[in-house]
Amino acid sequence: MRTHHVRDVLFTSEQIQQRVRALIHEIAGSCETENLVMIGVLRGGFIFLADLVRGFAEYNLHPRIDFITLSSYGSGTESGGTVRICHDTDEDLRGADVVIVDDILDSGRTLAFAKELFLKRGARSVRTCVLLDKKANRAAKIEADYTGFPVDDVFVVGYGLDYDNRYRELPYIAKVTFENGKME
Ligand code: IMP
Ligand code: MG
Repeated sequence: MRTHHVRDVLFTSEQIQQRVRALIHEIAGSCETENLVMIGVLRGGFIFLADLVRGFAEYNLHPRIDFITLSSYGSGTESGGTVRICHDTDEDLRGADVVIVDDILDSGRTLAFAKELFLKRGARSVRTCVLLDKKANRAAKIEADYTGFPVDDVFVVGYGLDYDNRYRELPYIAKVTFENGKME
């Protein structure tokens, strides 16, 4: 790991929790919920998914929950061009209304790949929900249906997001500053 600092908090735990509550309300009110399957993208989406679904009970929503582990080739803080399935979903998605949950929409390759995959498997609808949207970096043609916060083109950690698989446990989102000032 390169010399770095995690100091600047961009979104506090309270801000995140408040936004998550609003998203739960939004999803419950707008989504096809008959045959709802929430699919978390691992590893970054695990905390966000857990917080979202815990708010569903009061809306009488009882989704199936599944996970997929995806990785885009590349190293460090840049994601590469190809998406690979490291661990697949188990649920039968035929006729399902899927909501994919990920930590951040960056180039968009990961979510574009997942969306196409679940549609190919017979899902009736596939929506996407991300905590953060880094619009500046988009390479694939995809926008999220539900977004927590827009974020500038900086490298962030916390609330599931990692640098070298560290800092996922932080309850807030903070910016990583590298000693030489560059991200890569
Ligand atoms: P995409 O396919 O480029 O949209 O990649 C999205 C994935 O890249 C996310 O699921 C994250 O794992 C990772 N990623 C993108 N930006 C950041 C960041 O600022 N911090 C940590 N991970 C990031
Ligand atoms: Mg990820």
